Amino acid sequence: MFDEYGFPRAAGFDSDFGGPTLETFVYCSRAAEGVDDAEVDRMVAWSQRRNVARDITGVLVFGSGVFFQWIEGPPAQVKDLIASLHSDPRHYDIVSLDRSVEQRERIYPNWQMELVGADDILAVLQDALEAAEDENNIAALRRILAHVSSGPLDTLGRS
Ligand SMILES: Cc1cc2nc3c(=O)[nH]c(=O)nc-3n(C[C@H](O)[C@H](O)[C@H](O)COP(=O)(O)O)c2cc1C
Repeated sequence: MFDEYGFPRAAGFDSDFGGPTLETFVYCSRAAEGVDDAEVDRMVAWSQRRNVARDITGVLVFGSGVFFQWIEGPPAQVKDLIASLHSDPRHYDIVSLDRSVEQRERIYPNWQMELVGADDILAVLQDALEAAEDENNIAALRRILAHVSSGPLDTLGRS
């Protein structure tokens, strides 16, 4: 609770006690009509600046008119972002795949919101699983790999 100088630790950086408290939100959604690669690039550039300020990291996959996003960060910030995402007209049919609050290290510590092609998502998740040491991360990655392998990206992409 207090560091060696007696100051309260910053919330979310309690790394001596199993890592910071992180909320993870993983979902799929369908892109609204007119949302093309150029619009997604603009949105990602904007989101990356915003995520730095909110201490949010993650991955956004876009392909076949479908978004898949992995978001991790301080619970209050992630909660705000989820509310914004639900009222964003650039996508719809938001399907929540995983939402949890855990004390753990980030899976994507250096990605303020990396845009990945749909063909690469399995490889990205497999790499993350191979690199993961934290038990909670391993469990979360196995869950999401199971979701992705069972086809939500493909099935949501086809109308
Ligand atoms: C697929 C998708 C992913 C998004 N990802 C992020 C993100 O990682 N960070 C972010 O700040 N906004 C993201 N946005 C934009 C938010 O939905 C919202 O427009 C933005 O946070 C501003 O919200 P506010 O007007 O409530 O402040 C995303 C939007 C879409 C459609």
